[in-house]
Amino acid sequence: MKIVVSLDLGPEVMPLLYNRDDLEIIAWPHASSSGKEWLVKNIAGADGCIIMLFEKIDDEVLDAAGPNLKVVSTMSVGYDHVDLKALAKRGVRLGNTPDVLTESVADSSVMLALMAGRNTKEGTNLVEKGQWPGWSWSPYGLCGPQISPNSPADIRTVGFIGFGRIAQATLARMIGFGYTRCLYVARSKDPARAADIEQTIKARHPTLTTVKRVELDELARESDVVYILAPGGSETYHIVDEKFLKQMKKTAVLVNNARGTLVDSDALAKALKEGWLWGAGLDVVEGEPNITADHPLVKEPRCVMIPHIGSATWESRIGMATMSVNNLFAGLERQPMVSEVQLPK
Ligand code: GLV
Ligand code: GLV
Repeated sequence: MKIVVSLDLGPEVMPLLYNRDDLEIIAWPHASSSGKEWLVKNIAGADGCIIMLFEKIDDEVLDAAGPNLKVVSTMSVGYDHVDLKALAKRGVRLGNTPDVLTESVADSSVMLALMAGRNTKEGTNLVEKGQWPGWSWSPYGLCGPQISPNSPADIRTVGFIGFGRIAQATLARMIGFGYTRCLYVARSKDPARAADIEQTIKARHPTLTTVKRVELDELARESDVVYILAPGGSETYHIVDEKFLKQMKKTAVLVNNARGTLVDSDALAKALKEGWLWGAGLDVVEGEPNITADHPLVKEPRCVMIPHIGSATWESRIGMATMSVNNLFAGLERQPMVSEVQLPK
């Protein structure tokens, strides 16, 4: 069987593929994305492929692959880069890699909130430019809003756009900080489902007084920290727009660790400049990776940006790479995958 792999999964994981003598492996030799052009050129006759976020899987790629293709395995939890209808139409299965990155992404979500709240960017810039000697400590110098409540009377609210595994792992950390209120928006509008989730979360976290599915406006108005942890795609495009940002608390922090498309970048740059909210921590940005130093958000002193490394721990990435190979094998053998994406009927 022919397998196309558009990324180098590293010395821990590539042998899982190379050790099988029934597979012909065509692998892009670099850790970076092969890009779609390489994939289209090499995928003819393939039985399966392993890809990552930056390879858009659409009719063009699938037509180039031809009728042998049984499985597409993406080394990512998100799959907004894959045209699900195009796969379903051809009976090609899709695997993704959740769970093994839940804790690493939750860690980086909280990290971004702390960094954005506490002026880390301005602070480190000042030190790195050699300006510490001229910048004397002063009572309110580089102050920002405190992310942890200061006492039990200081009631704080954390808001989640998307309330899946990563959001819930982030919530656990915020409860550790002393948060007692949690609001979320979710795709499902089913009240029974919301009641079920809320009961589960409350049982798990007895100090939480509120966990409630709300409309976007209420979440914007009431949250001290807003975490975006929902899938990308057309349904969530610019869910954080000017209207949302205008309603946020002036001391609030916004974190996007999901997909850049959920936030209107121009609106966020304007909001930060005009002080509608305090700060933003972004792991993902619309148009990435083509984000240059003159990008309006890069220039904002209270916008902390990292280059889509939310899951970049050895534990998560080796876990994801391994899972992507195991999903591929399951797809080739018509077995249940470790994690399979449900395709539209
Ligand atoms: C990363 O963004 C992923 O979807 O795994
Ligand atoms: C998926 O994005 C999750 O929250 O696990």
